Amino acid sequence: MKIDELRKLYIEFFRQKKHAVIPSASLIPENDPTVLFTTAGMHPLVPFLLGQPHPQGKRLVNCQKCIRTTDIDDVGDATHLTFFEMLGNWSLGDYWKKEAVQWSYEFLTSKKWLGFNPEKLSITVFEGDDDAPRDEESVKLWREVGIPEERIFYLPKEDNWWGPAGATGPCGPCTEMFIEVEDVPACGPNCRPGCECGHYFEVWNDVFMMYYKHEDGSYTPLDQRNVDTGMGVERTAARLQGVPTVYHTEAYVPLIEKIRELAGRELTESDDAFIKIIADHVKSAVMIMADDRRIAPSNVEQGYIVRRLLRKAIHSADRLEIGSGFMETLTETVIEMYKHIYDEVERNRDFVMENLTLEEKKFRRTLRKALGKFERIYSENSTITGIDAFLLFTSFGLPLEMTKELAEEKGITINMDEFRRQFEEHREISRTATEGKFKGGLADHSEEITKLHTATHLLQAALRKVLGESVRQNGSNITKDRLRFDFTFPRKLTDDEKKQVEDLINDVIERDLEVQHTSMPYEEAIKKGALAFFKENYGDEVSVYWIDDFSIELCGGPHVERTGILKEFRIGKQEKIGAGLIRIKGILVN
Ligand code: ALA
Repeated sequence: MKIDELRKLYIEFFRQKKHAVIPSASLIPENDPTVLFTTAGMHPLVPFLLGQPHPQGKRLVNCQKCIRTTDIDDVGDATHLTFFEMLGNWSLGDYWKKEAVQWSYEFLTSKKWLGFNPEKLSITVFEGDDDAPRDEESVKLWREVGIPEERIFYLPKEDNWWGPAGATGPCGPCTEMFIEVEDVPACGPNCRPGCECGHYFEVWNDVFMMYYKHEDGSYTPLDQRNVDTGMGVERTAARLQGVPTVYHTEAYVPLIEKIRELAGRELTESDDAFIKIIADHVKSAVMIMADDRRIAPSNVEQGYIVRRLLRKAIHSADRLEIGSGFMETLTETVIEMYKHIYDEVERNRDFVMENLTLEEKKFRRTLRKALGKFERIYSENSTITGIDAFLLFTSFGLPLEMTKELAEEKGITINMDEFRRQFEEHREISRTATEGKFKGGLADHSEEITKLHTATHLLQAALRKVLGESVRQNGSNITKDRLRFDFTFPRKLTDDEKKQVEDLINDVIERDLEVQHTSMPYEEAIKKGALAFFKENYGDEVSVYWIDDFSIELCGGPHVERTGILKEFRIGKQEKIGAGLIRIKGILVN
């Protein structure tokens, strides 16, 4: 079965079970400082998992584009990848385990749907610990649909509990579904789902979100019990097609074929890792850049990941003697592969192409200098220290992985602790390098963040009143201490304009206006003048926030109830960050 068919069947199955189909959210989480990318379908749904009513109802289904960078350095082997799609269905305080288990079983095994052999289906459930009991209810339900005891496995929290590690937020026990792969024999009598040997292949995860994890590590029951499920598209397609890895499916084959065509020499098995790195990294970088939030390669946050992906891809392409310009060719392939599902990849084609070309030029320039420097240091000292690696990274833009590889070729190892220490001291860059930030996490809906979220709406409205309607949001990011707002405008604000914007906002704050919220059809919201710049995000029925006649925006929230709580807003630093793009930071003072 092809991937297109899999997506269609999944959505259709849950539509028949009365789920509303919602579009994929952006890959760049909105107003969530804890995580760089959307890592699962549930991520954009956190406010609704915590009880806020979703405009589309209590049963949702979608196919979400996701990026996970935790394993970025492992890409090149048979299984790891950074961009993937996740099919998911949700119950927001509606159905519970019985329906989730029955429907999962039906979709996986019925001939009308995926038609996997039920005898090859194995299940894992949460074994229980001090925080939560063993999930007997799921076991009973799996037995009822026909899974025998010997194919049900009990696993601890590390395996059968979902909620991104280390983060606060909704979470709970999960039950996972595995298909046994006939071609890969079990590695021994203790082989069980989760074993690395590949005999058991995970396809689906049903999470029963009934707890909230607090900062101190404790768990309390949620007011609303939710079901959150996730089926990896590429993985499941590999199983349906009976191929050994995701790289054998049409999610990669067109890219791999193109790479083979472009190679300047005959490729052998030892080139496999480079081929996979190029295919995965170019695809991920394109999907991030072509998101409607348009991320260009840079040294910070998401842009830093794009830069890292592209530079590693260029480095790998050099190993295969692929000439310059290959990224543009592969980007065409990515666009062809995904434009019918995510139309933004077509919409943002020019932006992606321009930035790819620019980045390759920049990288090649710095690379020449960096390699020269590397050789000089090595010939003088016969080693490369962590401090050298850091210098090569910051001053010459040489990715750490490349320095490591070059060092390996010379038979030396880089002192990573030393490198890391340097890194930590380099504040601006280390902000993005903190491992935790790449790992995933959940949205922070603390009061500070919520207040700044409302302030962002006020800022956007005020900027448009002072500077004109050509002002359009291009990106927004909020931390506990400040908001950051990027918008289209040719120059920085004058002192006078800055004061006018602040005065308008502070006047609305002083009037202590109600922040109102409702849901309505998309077209109606647009007619009312609601600002909506990221079209890909919205469904037919949208959530709208407005403040008197000052501001109206399509937005998932959350927001404060009244503006008075913001006390006072001030514009901080302004920066011109690109042609026609201005970045403003703003704070609330008490
Ligand atoms: N959120 C769950 C996962 O990503 C379904 O596995």
